[in-house]
Amino acid sequence: MREPSSVGIEGNNNGVVSPPPPQALLERLKDYGQEDVFALWDELSHDEREYLVKDIESLDLSRIDRIIRCSLRSQGLPAAAIEPVPESSVSTVDERTHEERERWWKMGLKAISDGKLAVLLLSGGQGTRLGSSDPKGCFNIGLPSGKSLFHLQAERILCAQRLAAHATESSASSVQIHWYIMTSPFTDEATRKFFESHKFFGLEAEQVTFFQQGTIPCVSKDGRYIMETPYRVAKAPDGNGGVYSALKSTRLLEDMASKGIKYIDCYGVDNALVRVADPSFLGYFIDKGVAAAAKVVRKAYPQEKVGVFVRRGKGGPLTVVEYSELDPSLASAVNQGTGRLRFCWSNVCLHMFTLDFLNQVANSLEKDSIYHLAEKKIPSIHGYTMGLKLEQFVFDVFPYSPTTALFEILREEEFAPVKNANGSNYDTPDSAKLLVLRLHTRWVIAAGGFLTHSVPLYATGVEVSPLCSYAGENLEPICRGRTFHAPCEITF
Ligand code: UD1
Repeated sequence: MREPSSVGIEGNNNGVVSPPPPQALLERLKDYGQEDVFALWDELSHDEREYLVKDIESLDLSRIDRIIRCSLRSQGLPAAAIEPVPESSVSTVDERTHEERERWWKMGLKAISDGKLAVLLLSGGQGTRLGSSDPKGCFNIGLPSGKSLFHLQAERILCAQRLAAHATESSASSVQIHWYIMTSPFTDEATRKFFESHKFFGLEAEQVTFFQQGTIPCVSKDGRYIMETPYRVAKAPDGNGGVYSALKSTRLLEDMASKGIKYIDCYGVDNALVRVADPSFLGYFIDKGVAAAAKVVRKAYPQEKVGVFVRRGKGGPLTVVEYSELDPSLASAVNQGTGRLRFCWSNVCLHMFTLDFLNQVANSLEKDSIYHLAEKKIPSIHGYTMGLKLEQFVFDVFPYSPTTALFEILREEEFAPVKNANGSNYDTPDSAKLLVLRLHTRWVIAAGGFLTHSVPLYATGVEVSPLCSYAGENLEPICRGRTFHAPCEITF
């Protein structure tokens, strides 16, 4: 919707009697106690009134009312106590046998080759904490290649396709992993342009589908809409859990079914080591026959900004408690016997779902309408005001899953979060870059390569192009007996 051309609300109507707001719309707003959105109607220009009416008409008032009521009500209710997830409920790295790993890898590659896997990227967030207003995926963390996060992920998809084609003796062009990318009104245009200007990083344009998550009004503590301007309601993205209603409303679940997709690998954009379309995880998921699964790492320290998997109530369903919602005393509680954190299984925003489950859960989430409430500064006609943002989280679906499996991964292999600007103490582009360089250096040395370096090795290393290797495999022919001067990118 275009902004109204006349600006400022004073003196717009110079004593001329103004028409009242559309009666039917006003009555509907009154039904939901939101008629105050028209409080400044008399002072608006013609264009501003038109804009306001369109803005209100674009809202699904009854749905939003249900969400606000259910979310505010649930906030006052005592939540069931949480229990730690026992180690026995997690597939740990230590307990996996070589045979299992081989079997899962092959099963995953076969399913990819059969076209059963899609990847789903959550990319609606802006890089605010990174100090950037660009979509986070456009960020270049300073690797020797200069590749952006989107670029790294695209090349990992290309590599998984190639491995799957090779393992099943299919032609390379016959294996395609579809990439669904969720944007928000704040990241959509920039994301599409970035992909177009980089020629989809070598992927086929038609294997990438962009779709937008929704927004939802920001409200005061008593549930009334906050006005950002006299003619516009303040709105914010509905959280990364908005992915479920967005997939439904855009009919992309049907699109997936029509393509024969059965499994969806869903992940956050801001992890430089993310194994997109990981054949091992997919094989494990298929082998277990569960509806949902998540990769987890052991929590590094009590205040680490990661959600943790818990059981809600004795023997209750698995779910995640976000770091912002976990009581600090529970976050630092330690197991007497082992000395380890009680709530230690961190969510790293790497999930796998069956398409069947996604079809069911979108309806359940919609029916329950419970969103997380975050008190934030909201831009309003009275300057910044404290209000509530309503968000769903991508992991809110776990309690609905009939069967969930947790798969431990090693953080040094798969978790390099890019959250804060360089200069912060943790999770910066620099720390993520070093994690990538260290891992890839280990791969190269294990494959018989050598390194020279003019800066200390702890501050540098080599980068392996995802086009050469997905997880350290197939590097011997490129590395054995060769010396690389760090920092550099190793590619074909
Ligand atoms: C997220 C997880 C947290 C986990 C951590 C690991 C959620 C809600 N929290 O926290 O449990 O331990 O990652 O790194 O998943 N996004 C959208 N739309 C939005 C908001 C976010 O698509 O409205 C996307 C972001 O672009 C990003 C992902 O969701 O890809 C994670 O979002 P972010 O808000 O950065 O989550 P964290 O607080 O880091």
